[in-house]
Amino acid sequence: MKKIVILISGRGSNMEAIVRAGLPAQVGAVISNRPDAAGLKFAAQAGVETQVVDERAYASRDAFEGELAAAIDRRSPDLVALAGFMRVLGADFVRRYSGKLLNIHPSLLPAFPGLHTHRRALQEGVKLHGCTVHFVTPQVDHGPIVVQAAVPVRAGDTESALAARVLKQEHRIYPLALRWFLEDRLVVENGLVRVNGTEARQSILAEE
Ligand code: GRF
Repeated sequence: MKKIVILISGRGSNMEAIVRAGLPAQVGAVISNRPDAAGLKFAAQAGVETQVVDERAYASRDAFEGELAAAIDRRSPDLVALAGFMRVLGADFVRRYSGKLLNIHPSLLPAFPGLHTHRRALQEGVKLHGCTVHFVTPQVDHGPIVVQAAVPVRAGDTESALAARVLKQEHRIYPLALRWFLEDRLVVENGLVRVNGTEARQSILAEE
């Protein structure tokens, strides 16, 4: 059976959605860069091995990422899923997991990379917002797009209301993308992802 390692930093609701999805894979570990990440509790209760690689305990980024890579490699995963992992990873680290490192981002990339995506979407007045699952490349919030879900912005939307609706879609598309990966259906060619055996439109979802 294939193995997934999930990296978190906080709440861990995407990790929870992945664990609950019953994917054809074992979740080998949930690893957090912060000891107080709330998601660690759910993972432990679900019987998933957890580990903290505390970013504050290392003098340099290289030292931290070396330890993180060792923690991941110990589980020999087929797939590493960043799920609210709030730390930019260095190019060497990203290359080490090239082709098997996925991320979820709360915007329709390439719009709004970085932080505070919902606030920025409201400030820009976009009418469609959403979320994206993508392969990770050294450029932050960039990389071949696997699936996106669109969330219409409503009149009078607040940052938190919009965030909640986007999060609901995140919980839908991340397990879906991981399932495709685990079924060996994702093919990356020239920076574009093809999902074998799936109608192309199935990788464009919309809020229902
Ligand atoms: C999600 O919105 C995710 O897209 C972003 O950070 C948030 C993490 O939430 N990268 P959670 O920890 O999965 O609940």
